[in-house]
Amino acid sequence: MADASTTSASSPVPAPVPGHVAIIMDGNGRWAQRRGLSRSEGHRAGTRAAKAIVTRARELGIRHLTLYTFSRENWSRPKDEVGLIFDLLVEYMKGELQNLLDQDIRLKVLGDFDGLPFVARQSLSHVMGKTENCRAMTLNLALNYSGREEILRACRSLVEKGVKPEAITNEAFAAELYTVNQPDPDLIIRTSGELRLSNYLLFQAAYAEFYFTDTLWPDFDGTELERALADYQSRQRRFGKTGEQVTV
Ligand code: FPP
Repeated sequence: MADASTTSASSPVPAPVPGHVAIIMDGNGRWAQRRGLSRSEGHRAGTRAAKAIVTRARELGIRHLTLYTFSRENWSRPKDEVGLIFDLLVEYMKGELQNLLDQDIRLKVLGDFDGLPFVARQSLSHVMGKTENCRAMTLNLALNYSGREEILRACRSLVEKGVKPEAITNEAFAAELYTVNQPDPDLIIRTSGELRLSNYLLFQAAYAEFYFTDTLWPDFDGTELERALADYQSRQRRFGKTGEQVTV
């Protein structure tokens, strides 16, 4: 199995590859509109793009990939569109289970799982169970996700457990988040030219690098991912220190 922290021999992207890449997949609707297609076709094309990016991310040695698939706010979209997104999700789970196992990819959900439609919960639980021992990469699907709600949920849990104020450290707090036991995102990518975080991984994004591209999500392919990684690798991460103090 490929070492997580380095790239595969065939990879054009030199180390260090970001350990955790989180993507805001935006622009399906505009992609469809520009082609005179329905929004549904845009989401279908977006799902194909997601499938390809999962495989490429795994090949590049990324250990954690998080895809913003459905936010809590997305419930306000037309009913048909919401239904289609969950149909695509269930199709994806059925069609990709074997591929995920073959690629040693573990599936996780970030978000309010109980609030998802029953069929989606069923198929997600099945794939999560089957892939729970996979270790090459963790694929997080952010579903029914809200960064603010995640923070409030963590606060409620700490209060319920009676944790003393002085014991509420970064680590203790992070352990209450959906991303428990996973590293913070190193790189957050947003497609389609929008320059917003949209309630995504608010606590975890503290020291993330950001990469924005005008490319609409269905057109975001392996080459685009490599471009984002190359850009990331050209940056100096300081974590609040001066340039001289930073050793990595
Ligand atoms: C943003 O495009 C996309 C979404 C809100 C849905 C994301 C869902 C998918 C890509 C399909 C499911 C994915 C998987 C992994 C099964 P938009 O509709 O906001 O585009 P617009 O801003 O151009 O209207």
